[in-house]
Amino acid sequence: MPESTVIYTHGHHESVLRSHSWRTAQNSASYLLPYIKPNMHILDIGCGPGTITLDFAILIGPTGHITGIEPSPGDVLTQARETAASRGITNVEFKIGDIFELEEMFSEQTQKFDIVHVHQVLQHIDRERVSEALMQMRAVTKPGGIVAVRETDFAAMTWFPVSGGMAEWVDTYQLVARANGGEPNAGRRLVSWALKAGFARDKITASAGTWCFSTPDQRDWWSRLWADRTLSSNFKTTTLKSGLADEEKLNRIADTWTEWGKAEDGWFAILNGEIICRVD
Ligand SMILES: C[S@@+](CC[C@H](N)C(=O)[O-])C[C@H]1O[C@@H](n2cnc3c(N)ncnc32)[C@H](O)[C@@H]1O
Repeated sequence: MPESTVIYTHGHHESVLRSHSWRTAQNSASYLLPYIKPNMHILDIGCGPGTITLDFAILIGPTGHITGIEPSPGDVLTQARETAASRGITNVEFKIGDIFELEEMFSEQTQKFDIVHVHQVLQHIDRERVSEALMQMRAVTKPGGIVAVRETDFAAMTWFPVSGGMAEWVDTYQLVARANGGEPNAGRRLVSWALKAGFARDKITASAGTWCFSTPDQRDWWSRLWADRTLSSNFKTTTLKSGLADEEKLNRIADTWTEWGKAEDGWFAILNGEIICRVD
């Protein structure tokens, strides 16, 4: 197997999985729901703890099947399998697999997938190889099937109250994600990447979806999550190692998040690019 291509900025610290596990098909893949039908075979690449994957598993029914893949063995796959068991979902399999090796991984499978899906993954892989990843996704999709992608766009995030601290957070995040080889402003680039991968423009449907955090509970959850990520996850270690911030700056960013969480008029909106690419 070729050397792993994994450069995931956040890692799978508890503070990171806290945010991924909140995700559902409804709040993170509503653009795709009209295409999901019983009996389908779906591949969910970079499935993380698998909460979206498991919602899809229910939608395709017991005669459908979904495979979730993650590039490394570890707690995240275990967590996904445990969640499936606790929900009594059996038409799912969680396996090790890399987005750049899909053709090889599924070469012996007679049936290709109806839907090949990624959510918040392309922004984290080598930005020079995103089209290659989309070509791999297309290669394991059956004719008439679809490749579906949803990615956020950090430069399009917006919030209130406006503060220098939040600007410092997003600037630092952008630098760290790019130093890791990724593209944090992925959402706006999805159509362009799909064209480069060889999808004709009339086979691509583009949309945008949002998340918004504003109630006291949402602010508390979102702000703690980022304060904890800043001080405890891979984000901290990569940032310090790269020299893009020191401990003092990271502490300042974490304090900014804590303050934002307490602001009664606090509001945070996230824009996600979405594409459905139809495969001939
Ligand atoms: C932001 S998380 C998204 C998890 C899940 N899709 C969700 O939205 O909750 C990105 C995931 O992509 C995975 N990933 C990173 N590089 C990958 C690669 N080369 N192939 C497959 N997955 C990858 C990471 O391990 C991580 O779990």
